[in-house]
Amino acid sequence: MFSKVKKQKILVVISLLICSLFLAAYGDNLQPAAGDPVEEQENLEFQQPEGKKGILVISFGTSYPETRKVTIDACEEKIAESFPDYEVRRAFTSSIIIKKLKERDNIIIDTPEEALSKMKEEGFTKVIVQPLHIIPGYEYEEVLAVVNNFKDSFEQLTVGRPVLYGIEDYKQAVEALKQQLPALDKDHAVVLMGHGTTHPANACYSCLQSMLDDEGLKVFVGVVEGYPGIDNVIAKLKRNNIKEVTLMPYMLVAGDHAVNDMAGDEEDSWKNILEREGFVVNIYLHGLGENIGYQEIYVQRVKDCIDGNPLGIKEE
Ligand code: CO
Repeated sequence: MFSKVKKQKILVVISLLICSLFLAAYGDNLQPAAGDPVEEQENLEFQQPEGKKGILVISFGTSYPETRKVTIDACEEKIAESFPDYEVRRAFTSSIIIKKLKERDNIIIDTPEEALSKMKEEGFTKVIVQPLHIIPGYEYEEVLAVVNNFKDSFEQLTVGRPVLYGIEDYKQAVEALKQQLPALDKDHAVVLMGHGTTHPANACYSCLQSMLDDEGLKVFVGVVEGYPGIDNVIAKLKRNNIKEVTLMPYMLVAGDHAVNDMAGDEEDSWKNILEREGFVVNIYLHGLGENIGYQEIYVQRVKDCIDGNPLGIKEE
Protein backbone atom coordinates (compact mmCIF):
# COMPACT_ATOMS: atom_id res chain seq x y z
CA MET A 1 0.00 0.00 0.00
CA PHE A 2 0.99 3.69 0.15
CA SER A 3 3.80 4.93 2.31
CA LYS A 4 3.17 7.61 4.93
CA VAL A 5 4.71 10.34 2.75
CA LYS A 6 2.69 9.26 -0.28
CA LYS A 7 -0.49 9.31 1.78
CA GLN A 8 0.21 12.85 2.88
CA LYS A 9 0.89 13.89 -0.71
CA ILE A 10 -2.40 12.41 -1.87
CA LEU A 11 -4.22 14.20 0.93
CA VAL A 12 -2.63 17.51 -0.05
CA VAL A 13 -3.64 17.00 -3.69
CA ILE A 14 -7.19 16.12 -2.67
CA SER A 15 -7.54 19.16 -0.43
CA LEU A 16 -6.13 21.42 -3.15
CA LEU A 17 -8.68 19.96 -5.55
CA ILE A 18 -11.51 20.62 -3.09
CA CYS A 19 -10.21 24.14 -2.55
CA SER A 20 -10.15 24.94 -6.26
CA LEU A 21 -13.58 23.42 -6.80
CA PHE A 22 -14.85 25.53 -3.93
CA LEU A 23 -13.25 28.66 -5.38
CA ALA A 24 -14.70 27.94 -8.81
CA ALA A 25 -18.17 27.63 -7.34
CA TYR A 26 -18.13 30.42 -4.77
CA GLY A 27 -15.06 32.48 -5.65
CA ASP A 28 -17.12 35.51 -6.65
CA ASN A 29 -18.68 35.78 -3.23
CA LEU A 30 -15.47 35.47 -1.24
CA GLN A 31 -13.75 38.52 0.12
CA PRO A 32 -10.12 38.70 -1.05
CA ALA A 33 -9.07 38.48 2.58
CA ALA A 34 -5.86 36.96 3.88
CA GLY A 35 -5.85 33.39 5.06
CA ASP A 36 -7.41 30.22 3.87
CA PRO A 37 -10.84 30.81 2.31
CA VAL A 38 -12.25 27.61 3.72
CA GLU A 39 -11.23 28.65 7.21
CA GLU A 40 -12.77 32.10 6.70
CA GLN A 41 -16.03 30.49 5.70
CA GLU A 42 -15.96 28.33 8.81
CA ASN A 43 -15.44 31.38 11.02
CA LEU A 44 -18.39 33.08 9.40
CA GLU A 45 -20.58 30.09 10.07
CA PHE A 46 -19.38 29.96 13.63
CA GLN A 47 -20.44 33.55 14.23
CA GLN A 48 -23.84 33.23 12.55
CA PRO A 49 -24.99 29.65 12.76
CA GLU A 50 -28.46 30.46 11.36
CA GLY A 51 -27.83 33.51 9.20
CA LYS A 52 -29.49 36.86 9.73
CA LYS A 53 -33.24 36.98 10.20
CA GLY A 54 -35.22 40.05 9.34
CA ILE A 55 -38.76 41.41 9.22
CA LEU A 56 -39.51 44.03 6.61
CA VAL A 57 -42.55 46.06 7.66
CA ILE A 58 -44.19 47.72 4.68
CA SER A 59 -46.78 50.47 4.76
CA PHE A 60 -48.09 53.10 2.38
CA GLY A 61 -46.36 55.68 4.56
CA THR A 62 -47.45 59.12 5.69
CA SER A 63 -45.87 62.55 5.58
CA TYR A 64 -47.57 63.52 8.87
CA PRO A 65 -44.88 62.97 11.53
CA GLU A 66 -47.17 63.00 14.60
CA THR A 67 -49.43 60.24 13.34
CA ARG A 68 -46.44 58.33 11.91
CA LYS A 69 -44.88 58.13 15.35
CA VAL A 70 -47.94 56.70 17.06
CA THR A 71 -49.05 54.39 14.23
CA ILE A 72 -46.34 53.11 11.86
CA ASP A 73 -43.46 53.53 14.34
CA ALA A 74 -45.55 51.99 17.12
CA CYS A 75 -46.47 48.95 15.00
CA GLU A 76 -42.85 48.43 13.96
CA GLU A 77 -41.68 48.73 17.57
CA LYS A 78 -44.33 46.29 18.75
CA ILE A 79 -43.18 43.79 16.11
CA ALA A 80 -39.51 44.37 17.01
CA GLU A 81 -40.07 43.74 20.72
CA SER A 82 -42.19 40.66 19.99
CA PHE A 83 -39.49 39.05 17.81
CA PRO A 84 -36.09 39.96 19.31
CA ASP A 85 -34.23 37.44 17.09
CA TYR A 86 -35.26 39.39 14.02
CA GLU A 87 -33.99 42.71 12.79
CA VAL A 88 -36.90 44.95 11.80
CA ARG A 89 -36.63 47.12 8.69
CA ARG A 90 -39.01 49.63 7.10
CA ALA A 91 -40.25 50.35 3.61
CA PHE A 92 -43.02 52.59 2.24
CA THR A 93 -44.92 51.86 -0.95
CA SER A 94 -45.78 55.47 -1.78
CA SER A 95 -43.07 57.07 -3.92
CA ILE A 96 -44.74 60.47 -3.44
CA ILE A 97 -44.37 60.21 0.34
CA ILE A 98 -40.80 58.91 0.08
CA LYS A 99 -39.94 61.89 -2.13
CA LYS A 100 -41.69 64.38 0.14
CA LEU A 101 -39.94 63.09 3.28
CA LYS A 102 -36.58 63.22 1.56
CA GLU A 103 -37.00 66.76 0.26
CA ARG A 104 -38.80 68.27 3.24
CA ASP A 105 -37.38 66.42 6.25
CA ASN A 106 -34.23 64.81 4.88
CA ILE A 107 -35.63 61.43 5.95
CA ILE A 108 -34.60 58.54 3.69
CA ILE A 109 -37.08 55.69 3.42
CA ASP A 110 -36.63 52.63 1.20
CA THR A 111 -39.08 51.30 -1.31
CA PRO A 112 -39.84 47.57 -0.76
CA GLU A 113 -37.44 46.79 -3.62
CA GLU A 114 -34.59 48.83 -2.12
CA ALA A 115 -35.12 47.37 1.34
CA LEU A 116 -35.04 43.78 0.05
CA SER A 117 -31.95 44.49 -2.07
CA LYS A 118 -30.13 45.79 1.00
CA MET A 119 -31.18 42.79 3.07
CA LYS A 120 -29.92 40.51 0.33
CA GLU A 121 -26.58 42.33 0.18
CA GLU A 122 -26.24 42.24 3.95
CA GLY A 123 -26.61 38.49 4.01
CA PHE A 124 -30.07 38.00 5.49
CA THR A 125 -31.21 34.41 4.98
CA LYS A 126 -34.72 34.45 6.47
CA VAL A 127 -36.98 37.37 5.69
CA ILE A 128 -40.60 37.98 6.62
CA VAL A 129 -42.37 40.77 4.80
CA GLN A 130 -45.30 42.14 6.78
CA PRO A 131 -47.51 44.74 5.15
CA LEU A 132 -49.48 47.03 7.44
CA HIS A 133 -52.13 47.34 4.75
CA ILE A 134 -55.78 46.85 5.63
CA ILE A 135 -57.10 45.03 2.55
CA PRO A 136 -55.50 42.74 -0.04
CA GLY A 137 -55.83 45.36 -2.79
CA TYR A 138 -53.49 46.80 -5.41
CA GLU A 139 -50.76 47.80 -2.96
CA TYR A 140 -50.68 44.37 -1.35
CA GLU A 141 -50.45 42.79 -4.81
CA GLU A 142 -47.61 45.14 -5.61
CA VAL A 143 -45.81 43.93 -2.48
CA LEU A 144 -46.35 40.31 -3.58
CA ALA A 145 -44.93 41.12 -7.03
CA VAL A 146 -41.80 42.77 -5.61
CA VAL A 147 -41.26 39.92 -3.16
CA ASN A 148 -41.60 37.42 -5.99
CA ASN A 149 -38.59 39.03 -7.70
CA PHE A 150 -36.52 38.16 -4.62
CA LYS A 151 -37.72 34.60 -4.15
CA ASP A 152 -34.29 33.15 -5.01
CA SER A 153 -32.36 35.70 -2.93
CA PHE A 154 -33.11 34.26 0.50
CA GLU A 155 -33.40 30.79 2.00
CA GLN A 156 -36.83 31.75 3.27
CA LEU A 157 -39.02 34.63 2.20
CA THR A 158 -42.59 34.87 3.46
CA VAL A 159 -45.26 37.55 3.14
CA GLY A 160 -47.80 38.09 5.91
CA ARG A 161 -51.43 38.88 5.11
CA PRO A 162 -53.13 42.24 5.60
CA VAL A 163 -55.69 42.98 8.34
CA LEU A 164 -58.84 41.94 6.45
CA TYR A 165 -58.28 38.55 4.83
CA GLY A 166 -59.87 35.38 6.19
CA ILE A 167 -63.14 35.23 8.15
CA GLU A 168 -61.28 34.83 11.47
CA ASP A 169 -59.30 37.92 10.57
CA TYR A 170 -62.47 40.00 10.29
CA LYS A 171 -63.62 38.75 13.69
CA GLN A 172 -60.26 39.75 15.13
CA ALA A 173 -60.48 43.17 13.44
CA VAL A 174 -63.96 43.77 14.91
CA GLU A 175 -62.79 42.76 18.40
CA ALA A 176 -59.83 45.12 18.12
CA LEU A 177 -62.05 47.93 16.87
CA LYS A 178 -64.27 47.59 19.97
CA GLN A 179 -61.32 48.83 22.03
CA GLN A 180 -61.63 52.28 20.46
CA LEU A 181 -65.42 52.62 20.25
CA PRO A 182 -67.16 55.21 22.42
CA ALA A 183 -70.24 54.28 24.45
CA LEU A 184 -73.02 54.35 21.87
CA ASP A 185 -76.43 55.28 23.24
CA LYS A 186 -79.54 54.88 21.15
CA ASP A 187 -79.14 57.69 18.61
CA HIS A 188 -75.34 57.80 18.49
CA ALA A 189 -73.36 55.81 15.92
CA VAL A 190 -69.79 55.51 14.69
CA VAL A 191 -68.97 56.13 11.04
CA LEU A 192 -65.75 54.59 9.80
CA MET A 193 -63.92 56.12 6.88
CA GLY A 194 -62.13 53.39 4.96
CA HIS A 195 -59.97 54.15 1.95
CA GLY A 196 -61.79 52.25 -0.81
CA THR A 197 -60.45 51.04 -4.12
CA THR A 198 -61.41 50.01 -7.65
CA HIS A 199 -59.81 46.61 -6.87
CA PRO A 200 -62.30 43.77 -6.15
CA ALA A 201 -60.95 43.76 -2.59
CA ASN A 202 -63.21 46.80 -2.09
CA ALA A 203 -65.78 44.16 -1.04
CA CYS A 204 -63.77 43.81 2.21
CA TYR A 205 -65.49 46.91 3.55
CA SER A 206 -68.93 45.36 3.07
CA CYS A 207 -67.79 42.14 4.72
CA LEU A 208 -66.53 44.20 7.65
CA GLN A 209 -69.93 45.94 7.80
CA SER A 210 -71.66 42.58 7.83
CA MET A 211 -69.55 41.42 10.79
CA LEU A 212 -70.19 44.66 12.68
CA ASP A 213 -73.94 44.12 12.10
CA ASP A 214 -73.64 40.55 13.42
CA GLU A 215 -72.22 42.00 16.63
CA GLY A 216 -75.12 44.45 16.87
CA LEU A 217 -72.71 47.38 16.78
CA LYS A 218 -73.98 50.72 15.55
CA VAL A 219 -70.97 51.23 13.31
CA PHE A 220 -71.30 52.15 9.66
CA VAL A 221 -68.54 51.76 7.12
CA GLY A 222 -67.99 54.15 4.24
CA VAL A 223 -65.00 54.79 1.98
CA VAL A 224 -63.37 57.86 0.44
CA GLU A 225 -62.78 56.27 -2.94
CA GLY A 226 -65.46 53.80 -3.99
CA TYR A 227 -68.50 52.09 -2.49
CA PRO A 228 -70.14 52.62 -0.03
CA GLY A 229 -69.73 56.39 -0.15
CA ILE A 230 -70.82 58.93 2.43
CA ASP A 231 -74.25 59.24 0.72
CA ASN A 232 -74.91 55.54 1.28
CA VAL A 233 -73.85 55.93 4.90
CA ILE A 234 -76.12 58.96 5.46
CA ALA A 235 -79.12 57.05 4.08
CA LYS A 236 -78.40 54.26 6.57
CA LEU A 237 -77.95 56.67 9.48
CA LYS A 238 -81.36 58.16 8.74
CA ARG A 239 -83.04 54.76 8.48
CA ASN A 240 -81.60 53.99 11.93
CA ASN A 241 -82.73 57.33 13.43
CA ILE A 242 -79.18 58.31 14.30
CA LYS A 243 -78.72 61.92 15.43
CA GLU A 244 -75.08 61.95 16.52
CA VAL A 245 -72.04 60.37 14.89
CA THR A 246 -68.40 59.89 15.77
CA LEU A 247 -66.17 59.86 12.71
CA MET A 248 -63.14 57.57 12.73
CA PRO A 249 -60.63 56.71 10.02
CA TYR A 250 -60.51 52.98 9.24
CA MET A 251 -56.95 53.42 8.05
CA LEU A 252 -53.56 52.69 9.55
CA VAL A 253 -52.70 56.36 9.97
CA ALA A 254 -54.70 59.53 10.58
CA GLY A 255 -53.04 61.24 7.64
CA ASP A 256 -54.25 63.30 4.72
CA HIS A 257 -57.60 61.54 4.22
CA ALA A 258 -58.50 61.64 7.91
CA VAL A 259 -57.35 65.20 8.49
CA ASN A 260 -58.84 66.69 5.31
CA ASP A 261 -61.45 64.41 3.70
CA MET A 262 -62.90 63.25 7.01
CA ALA A 263 -62.42 66.06 9.51
CA GLY A 264 -61.33 69.05 7.40
CA ASP A 265 -62.97 72.44 6.94
CA GLU A 266 -63.57 71.96 3.21
CA GLU A 267 -67.21 71.99 2.21
CA ASP A 268 -67.11 68.37 1.07
CA SER A 269 -65.39 66.92 4.14
CA TRP A 270 -67.48 64.19 5.78
CA LYS A 271 -67.72 66.32 8.90
CA ASN A 272 -69.29 69.20 7.01
CA ILE A 273 -71.53 67.01 4.86
CA LEU A 274 -72.88 65.28 7.99
CA GLU A 275 -73.35 68.56 9.84
CA ARG A 276 -75.29 69.99 6.90
CA GLU A 277 -77.51 66.90 7.10
CA GLY A 278 -78.24 67.83 10.73
CA PHE A 279 -76.03 65.33 12.59
CA VAL A 280 -73.98 66.22 15.64
CA VAL A 281 -70.44 65.23 14.65
CA ASN A 282 -67.54 64.16 16.88
CA ILE A 283 -64.08 63.51 15.51
CA TYR A 284 -61.77 60.67 16.52
CA LEU A 285 -58.52 61.50 14.76
CA HIS A 286 -56.46 58.36 15.45
CA GLY A 287 -55.25 55.78 12.95
CA LEU A 288 -55.79 52.06 13.57
CA GLY A 289 -52.05 51.72 14.12
CA GLU A 290 -52.51 53.45 17.49
CA ASN A 291 -54.91 50.77 18.64
CA ILE A 292 -53.04 48.08 20.63
CA GLY A 293 -55.50 45.52 19.26
CA TYR A 294 -54.40 46.28 15.69
CA GLN A 295 -50.73 46.28 16.69
CA GLU A 296 -51.34 42.80 18.08
CA ILE A 297 -53.00 41.74 14.83
CA TYR A 298 -49.81 42.59 12.95
CA VAL A 299 -47.73 40.70 15.51
CA GLN A 300 -50.03 37.70 14.99
CA ARG A 301 -49.60 37.96 11.20
CA VAL A 302 -45.80 37.81 11.62
CA LYS A 303 -46.10 34.89 14.03
CA ASP A 304 -48.22 33.01 11.49
CA CYS A 305 -45.39 33.51 8.97
CA ILE A 306 -42.84 32.14 11.44
CA ASP A 307 -45.15 29.18 12.09
CA GLY A 308 -45.32 28.50 8.36
CA ASN A 309 -48.96 29.52 8.11
CA PRO A 310 -48.85 33.00 6.52
CA LEU A 311 -52.47 32.89 5.35
CA GLY A 312 -53.71 31.90 8.80
CA ILE A 313 -55.57 28.84 7.61
CA LYS A 314 -57.08 26.93 10.51
CA GLU A 315 -56.85 23.14 10.57
CA GLU A 316 -60.28 21.55 10.35
CO1 CO B 1 -55.75 57.87 -0.86
